Amino acid sequence: MSDIKKIRDNFIIKIKENLDINQINQIKSELFGKNGLVSSQFKKLSSIAENERKQFASDLNNVKNELQNLIVKKIQDIEIKEINKKLEKEKIDVTLPERNFYRGKIHPVSQSIDEISSIFSEIGFSVEEGPDVENEYNNFTALNTPDNHPARDMHDTFYLDDNKELLLRTHTSPVQIRTMIKDKPPFKIIAPGRTYRSDSDQTHAPMFHQVEGLHIDENINMGHLKGCLNYFIKEFFEIDKIKMRFRPSHFPFTEPSAEVDIGYEIKDGKIVIGEGDKWLEILGCGMVHPNVLKNVKIDTKKYQGYAFGIGIDRLAMLKYGINDLRAFFECDYRWLNHFGFDPLDVPSNYRGLSR
Ligand code: PHE
Repeated sequence: MSDIKKIRDNFIIKIKENLDINQINQIKSELFGKNGLVSSQFKKLSSIAENERKQFASDLNNVKNELQNLIVKKIQDIEIKEINKKLEKEKIDVTLPERNFYRGKIHPVSQSIDEISSIFSEIGFSVEEGPDVENEYNNFTALNTPDNHPARDMHDTFYLDDNKELLLRTHTSPVQIRTMIKDKPPFKIIAPGRTYRSDSDQTHAPMFHQVEGLHIDENINMGHLKGCLNYFIKEFFEIDKIKMRFRPSHFPFTEPSAEVDIGYEIKDGKIVIGEGDKWLEILGCGMVHPNVLKNVKIDTKKYQGYAFGIGIDRLAMLKYGINDLRAFFECDYRWLNHFGFDPLDVPSNYRGLSR
């Protein structure tokens, strides 16, 4: 058997074996490299007798082409096999839940609004809403705060037109008006939402949150207001002992009016609610002024009641130990991750509000 035939038969078997890309490249250079087996045969060509040379060259070329084609084909096969292997490994079932699934968090203000709604709903309050963009009538005039009333200046109002008819509501009190115009008494509602004043520092943000309360019925008095707020504060802070004081104040839409402070102290740099001799103002309240009831056509001989407005952001700061209000609105993901709440833990009184 000629050398050429031997090389051919030998390598056809070798190429058929189960090879990886390095092994086939190795074979390729063994055959066609500078001193490869096939290349060396070509070098022999000149020493071959003339009458055999043509045949030799022809056989050699055939073997060279045959082996080259086999190698090219083999390389393609190996590559396809490797791609398939890789695809098999990286196969994903898009219908399966993602393993590193990350759930978002509930903002402390949203959490507090849910907690507040849960607490008041336990004692018969329903939730009302009003728009952030209000008219000046609902925000001021109907609330016994006529034009040129000094209280209007104190609110640092964002007006939306030159005539000062539209504005961003400066408190949630206009929802009292909307509710009382829409329905008939009695009323027992809360109205949480955003409010706006042109003010900004560590404890004031131009957008903040309030929850309004309104309870109108026959024979409602200041004692009901006190009992209601006392219950609320205890539930919200999840403590039994609470120090609370009603301080005489003034709002055009309530008479008498009061501001409520809660007692606290600082222990080891932390705020402790219900102890100590420091006071912190958290809400305004009072008996709804007869003028307000008249403005919404309610018989003041038959009905009266109380209203209150609580600053939600402040309560949330106190309860969750957050000392700068501005952090609430910076949308810092790391902050939210730390102070946020699990969306599946919906606050309710009987299960515990914030646990
Ligand atoms: N609207 C008042 C404020 O924003 C709070 C308040 C509400 C006072 C209801 C009395 C009754 O300051």
